[in-house]
Amino acid sequence: MNWNPKLAQFTDISAIQALIPSSVLTLQAPYYSQAQMDAALGPVFGVDRQLIHDGTYYVVENDDRIIGCGGWSRRKTLFGGDQCRSSPDPELNPASEPARIRAFFVHPDWARRGVGRSILLACEAAIRAARFHSIELVATLAGEPLYASCGYAATERFNIDLNDGLRLPVVRMRKPIPPDSGL
Ligand SMILES: CC(C)(COP(=O)(O)OP(=O)(O)OC[C@H]1O[C@@H](n2cnc3c(N)ncnc32)[C@H](O)[C@@H]1OP(=O)(O)O)[C@@H](O)C(=O)NCCC(=O)NCCS
Repeated sequence: MNWNPKLAQFTDISAIQALIPSSVLTLQAPYYSQAQMDAALGPVFGVDRQLIHDGTYYVVENDDRIIGCGGWSRRKTLFGGDQCRSSPDPELNPASEPARIRAFFVHPDWARRGVGRSILLACEAAIRAARFHSIELVATLAGEPLYASCGYAATERFNIDLNDGLRLPVVRMRKPIPPDSGL
């Protein structure tokens, strides 16, 4: 099913900020402790306004309510809300550096209905149009199955350091975009 993702607007930010914790605290619960999720909400799982500004962040709505969000980036940052960034996020070179997939969150009531995949396909089409040759992302353990099912391969497992000595296990994933392929 195609959920027709549309570009997020700045007026969507409060709805996205409400969606993120409900998504994280339910859908990541099988993978992370409550303390890990609490510590990651905000610094790791948060809104990056730069993506909305760049026109690379999407939302999916149902009955005028945002039920999913996610995007891509032509910039260097791999993950995290913008509250942690104090300097500008430099642009990548599409010829030599991979585009990023960023900040996917689906409302738990709408999980496993293809919302995440619809947004990912919209991102990949835009990334191809921007002439990147590959895509990189840092996935949560909850996100890994979505990306694996769409052709992304794990290249590295590592931990993101959180407050209070907590650590969040994540996985770096990559997907090439062969020339003239339909992905
Ligand atoms: C990751 C997330 C965005 C996936 O969104 P979604 O809309 O539920 O995913 P989709 O329905 O599009 O799933 C597409 C495919 O991905 C795979 N997949 C997705 N979630 C899965 C899960 N929990 N277990 C196993 N496979 C899964 C399946 O192959 C699925 O196809 P299928 O349902 O036909 O079997 C959602 O689980 C989420 O918001 N998680 C919490 C926030 C988070 O961790 N985000 C990831 C940041 S990197």
